[in-house]
Amino acid sequence: TQAKAIREALLSWYDTVHEARGMPWRKPFDHGWSAEQRAQRAYEVWISEIMLQQTQVVTVIPYYNKWMAKFPTIKDLARSDIDTVNGLWKGLGYYSRAARILQGAQKAVKELSGRLPNNAKDMEASIPGIGRYSAGAICSIAYNQCVPVLDGNVHRLLSRFLALHTPPKAKQALDVLWEGAAAMVEGADRPGDTNQALIELGATICKVHDPQCASCPLQPWCTAHARQQAASKVPSDAS
Ligand code: ADE
Repeated sequence: TQAKAIREALLSWYDTVHEARGMPWRKPFDHGWSAEQRAQRAYEVWISEIMLQQTQVVTVIPYYNKWMAKFPTIKDLARSDIDTVNGLWKGLGYYSRAARILQGAQKAVKELSGRLPNNAKDMEASIPGIGRYSAGAICSIAYNQCVPVLDGNVHRLLSRFLALHTPPKAKQALDVLWEGAAAMVEGADRPGDTNQALIELGATICKVHDPQCASCPLQPWCTAHARQQAASKVPSDAS
C-alpha cells in the first residue's frame, strides 16, 4: 500500500541520520524487554519528551544526562522534592513542566505500583503533564504501540504533505492532521522510529523557512511539493 511505501522511504532516511545528533534517550525497541524494562524505558522517554517540549535537542542533552544520573528510576524521582527537581531544571524554563513530572512520578508510585500506564489512553488520563502528543511518543517509542504523534514539526510537515488549506489552529484541521499522523504509523513494524522520523524530518528538512525538498524522502508523495508550494507558505497558514 501507499502508506507502506511512504514509511519505508521515511525509515530508510531515518536510519541514515538518527545517530547523528547523539541523543542519549534513543535506544532501539527490543521485543524481548520485560514489562519492567518497558516501564523503565517509558520513564526515560517521558523525561526526554517533556524536556524537548519548547527546548532544542542540543540544549536538552546535558539536562537529560544529569537528570538520569540523579533519578535513574521513577521511584528515585518520586522520593525527591520540588526544590531538587527545580534545581536540575534550572535554565530549561517552563518550570511547570518539572513540577508536573514530579507529581506524575509520585502518583505513579502511590497509585500505579511505580509504573507509567501501559497504554496511551490511560497515560493521558492519569499522569499530569502527559497529553496526547507525549502519550503517543512514549507509547510508540517505549512500548512499540502504533499510536500517532503530532507536535509542531509533524503538524507543519503533514500540513504541507496534505496541502491543507485550513487555519492551523482550527479544530477541523487538527482532526485531519491527527488522522494523517495515525495513517503514517498504523501497521508500522517500528512505530517509535516512524514517529521520531517524522519529528526529525520536520525539524531538519521540512523546516519553517527554506524546506530542503530535494533531500526529502517523502517528496514523491508530497502534495505541496507537487504544487510547488512547499517553499512558499506553510499551506495551512493560508486560510
Ligand atoms: N523532539 C521531540 N521528541 C523528539 C525525539 N524523540 N527525538 C528528537 N527530537 C524530538
